[in-house]
Amino acid sequence: MKIARYTAYGAPQTIVIEDTPIPVPGPGELLIRTRAAPVTAGDARLRSGKVPRGLGLMLRLVIGWSRPKVAPGWAFAGEVAALGPGVTGFTEGQRVFGLKGFKGGAHAEYLTIPASGRVLPLPDTLTFEQGAAFFFGGLTAQSFLIDQARLAPGERLLVAGATGSVGGAAVQIARHLGAKVAATASPANHSLARSLGADIVSDYRQGPPPGPFDVILDVMGHLGWRGASPLLAPRGRLALITADLPAMLGAMWPRSQGRRVLVGNSGEDLPAMRRLVELHVAGGYTPVVGPVLPFDELPKAHAIAESFHKPGNLVVTMSDATQPS
Ligand SMILES: NC(=O)c1ccc[n+]([C@@H]2O[C@H](COP(=O)([O-])OP(=O)(O)OC[C@H]3O[C@@H](n4cnc5c(N)ncnc54)[C@H](OP(=O)(O)O)[C@@H]3O)[C@@H](O)[C@H]2O)c1
Repeated sequence: MKIARYTAYGAPQTIVIEDTPIPVPGPGELLIRTRAAPVTAGDARLRSGKVPRGLGLMLRLVIGWSRPKVAPGWAFAGEVAALGPGVTGFTEGQRVFGLKGFKGGAHAEYLTIPASGRVLPLPDTLTFEQGAAFFFGGLTAQSFLIDQARLAPGERLLVAGATGSVGGAAVQIARHLGAKVAATASPANHSLARSLGADIVSDYRQGPPPGPFDVILDVMGHLGWRGASPLLAPRGRLALITADLPAMLGAMWPRSQGRRVLVGNSGEDLPAMRRLVELHVAGGYTPVVGPVLPFDELPKAHAIAESFHKPGNLVVTMSDATQPS
């Protein structure tokens, strides 16, 4: 089978695709035939080593000093190809989706995962491409809007950067929760932002829309406290989805009028994944699938992902060629 590997921190061309034997599922494991996998902002950051200011040292201490010693590919959608000994609750051929997490391994034609791990049946309402696109932005938006900001019906939300993976999920979830949503996007994406449920859409290059807002989701972190605070209502919450080290430390600082800065990571555990599936079933979230590329164009996919201007989610798809013996 084909599997991707990072060879160094650097440009997308540092990824190679190699041949390796199809893995054999161990006790309690599933063998998954990967049909589609996202190439996320996180995948691009792990490969390039380019993370917000002050976080580079931590990245290298965790995933490797001289090169990323993790495998490419955070999430997947596919079919159960084989069951390891003792597996119950899944069947061969079943459509599933899930997370390999930051240690990766989803950019491969086959992967193994514990059956009790972060893998769930893929709802009939989602294609493999949508399944691959489902978790990255969705879990992040769910965590920041619901758990951290506690967005309430009728509140005024600004999603700054509203049509990528995180923003596109946030607009939908916020509308489902009954918020009034203002969105910023580049003009080419204004109709997409409206179709996702934004009430007001403007171009971020013209500056942010006038407030006040109860919650601001600053997807790329370009507003920051300085840009967002004049727009933030009393008791308002600024969620910095992208935050550098000074912004993270500054989030602990008390702010005027009971306002708060929220930073952190999205919840990526099985309960959070199940909750996002429930949100989908309730009509509150379906991921936007943007560019779809064949798996062997993975370096090109990384180049698009690290532009931070893609509409929705970028997905690579795996061909039918390789079969387990
Ligand atoms: N904290 C966490 O747990 C967490 C989780 C996931 C992602 N992230 C981070 O969140 C960021 C976004 O990830 P993503 O997957 O949503 O990326 P993405 O799909 O590439 O989307 C980026 C979005 O930002 C917009 N944008 C680009 N430049 C902008 C600017 N100068 N001002 C305002 N908006 C701008 C883009 O709009 P146009 O395309 O219209 O230009 C697009 O909507 C990344 O930095 C990622 O590392 C953090």
